[in-house]
Amino acid sequence: MENIDWKNLGFGYRDTDYNVRCYYRNGQWGELEISSSTRIDIHMSATALHYGQEAFEGLKAFKGKDGKIRIFRMDENAKRMQSSSDGILMAKLPVEKFMEAVRIAVKKNERFVPPYESGAALYIRPLLIGTGPQIGVKPADEYLFMVFVMPVGPYFPEGFKPTNLVIMRKYDRAAPQGTGKYKVGGNYAASMGSGKLAKQQGFSAVLYLDSREKKYLDECGPANFFGIKNNTYVTPLSDSILPSITNKSLMVLAEEMGLKVEQRKVPYEELAEFDEVGACGTAAVISPIKGVYDADNDKWFKYGDEPGAWSKKLYNKLLAIQYGDEPDKYSWVEIVE
Ligand code: PLP
Ligand code: COI
Repeated sequence: MENIDWKNLGFGYRDTDYNVRCYYRNGQWGELEISSSTRIDIHMSATALHYGQEAFEGLKAFKGKDGKIRIFRMDENAKRMQSSSDGILMAKLPVEKFMEAVRIAVKKNERFVPPYESGAALYIRPLLIGTGPQIGVKPADEYLFMVFVMPVGPYFPEGFKPTNLVIMRKYDRAAPQGTGKYKVGGNYAASMGSGKLAKQQGFSAVLYLDSREKKYLDECGPANFFGIKNNTYVTPLSDSILPSITNKSLMVLAEEMGLKVEQRKVPYEELAEFDEVGACGTAAVISPIKGVYDADNDKWFKYGDEPGAWSKKLYNKLLAIQYGDEPDKYSWVEIVE
């Protein structure tokens, strides 16, 4: 195997040994299959290709000091994929089948799980696509579910070093009653143009406001948003943001640490009140934010060049559970046997 520089991995695609596949045909799911090919053979009229009938997930596995591999909250990802499937009328994969596919994909690619000291992790990408041909806008009658994996470092190259976000009201990621709460490809396609613009100007991501009124904070392109003030962890409640499993976990940990937790509409003006601000997600982990720039009003909200004390505590606690340094009292991790 090529030598992998585990400590300097970015968040990029890399081939590994095996992936797992499962086909939905004639109204039922087949058996899980293991493949060493990175290719799929797909009908040119597959609904995934034309009408975006596809959903994906993202989760991670971690190698602990004890050499054991832990997968974080995969039941939550399985359920979220079911919700996405309901949202865009795809066949629903049973939770247990999803989890078994993830276990196999991790186990078969064990040699790609980064070592404990590296701070990297194995990123797991489940994908569900409509493969059956249609030309009218309607759901496919055949689907393919896949799981592939790769070792990754932090999503934002700065890792736990604070970066800046930008608000640009001209761009939306998702419609108010649209698909923002589902993890479907169309949302990411919609965010690519504004995301590129943000990066070209030196920002790590766009912070989207609610698409209807532009009054409330929604989320970032690839991660949820949180702010901390007056010993309170505040995170937006919105119909058009992805229900982040990382955020859900951080809310539990914040409460355990003695913070109050508020999930509610967060008016734009509140950006001026937070002591700490962060983006959170599987890929982003906690990415502390040092500033939010409102490009429409040429106005900065600043939070300091170093991660805040609460963000640091939350980050350390989450990682300690994921890497197995602390007891898993909420049963969030499954050890791969
Ligand atoms: N929001 C968006 C738009 C995302 O793509 C992600 C990544 O999955 C998240 C939030 C964070 O969700 P999670 O913590 O479940 O990875
Ligand atoms: C994740 O955090 O798993 C995601 O899916 C975000 C993605 C845009 C890389």
